[in-house]
Amino acid sequence: MNVHATALAKAHQFDEQTSAFAGDVLDDLSQHPKRLSPKYFYDAAGSELFEQITRLPEYYPTRTELSILRDRGSAISAILPEGAALVEFGAGATTKVRLLLEQCALGAYVPVDISGDFLKAQADALRRDFPALAIYPVTADFTAPFALPDAIARMPKVGFFPGSTLGNFEPHEACSFLRSARDILGQDALMLIGVDLEKDERALYEAYNDKAGVTARFNLNVLHRINRELGGNFDISAFTHRAIYNRDRHRIEMHLISRKAQTVRLLGQNFSFRAGETIHTENSYKYSLERFAALARGSGWTPRESWTDGAGMFSVHALAASD
Ligand code: AVJ
Repeated sequence: MNVHATALAKAHQFDEQTSAFAGDVLDDLSQHPKRLSPKYFYDAAGSELFEQITRLPEYYPTRTELSILRDRGSAISAILPEGAALVEFGAGATTKVRLLLEQCALGAYVPVDISGDFLKAQADALRRDFPALAIYPVTADFTAPFALPDAIARMPKVGFFPGSTLGNFEPHEACSFLRSARDILGQDALMLIGVDLEKDERALYEAYNDKAGVTARFNLNVLHRINRELGGNFDISAFTHRAIYNRDRHRIEMHLISRKAQTVRLLGQNFSFRAGETIHTENSYKYSLERFAALARGSGWTPRESWTDGAGMFSVHALAASD
């Protein structure tokens, strides 16, 4: 925990997660340019807004990845060892894992997520529909090392990281994540990973600037969350959502732009904004098949197979742990 977080936890009697949030926000808003971490988008309201995003006509990733998992189900299940334990890094909606469970003969499902409540709800829903499936939820930050449950020690391991969540990481962070997943899953493991592809810039732009304004509400929600959980006084109407494609760095960037010169007070500190000043809230990196394969090779994995949709919008990769 940083100095801010430790002091704030004491002064405000915050729980551990809230003081970590507070410390990160104070640090990140003190940077030039100001920034906030996309991991804080997902409180209850933000998670609901993200679910809405996945149903937008412009937001192709979720439905395209689902169509790949569905259409390539037999090729995917041919690669997965029978009775394997599927370890999902981050537990989102159960839609994707359900497709794998229906099509592949898996021995156990191990969802790993920082939110224990979320994991419990997810496991309960799955148990109803897959009564024979062994489910071992692990409450942990999946970007740091964690221990797998003893019950799956003898099963072959398959990591699952769908949704192009990898795109939120800087390339060097993506590399460390893949190395860490390799260490956690062990020798002979496989990894199934969903990666969004570089494409026509207009399609990318529209996916993050939807007509209904849901992505804007999703982005602005992090300011609501700071007000609510940390007692900030952000005037939400004084910020606007902006998403742009940064071609040189192969990434969508999301920003919150201050509409005017203003000062925000938060946890005893003032943060001044110039008119037009940005808070950089998210990067969503896009890969070519080749660049992703090169990243995997440099991170302890050997590309086995990859699948895309007909239009080449999204990709799912099977990787094997390198020796
Ligand atoms: C969940 C990180 C994959 O980058 O597309 C959607 C998040 N941000 N719309 C993405 C997101 C804005 C999403 N990921």
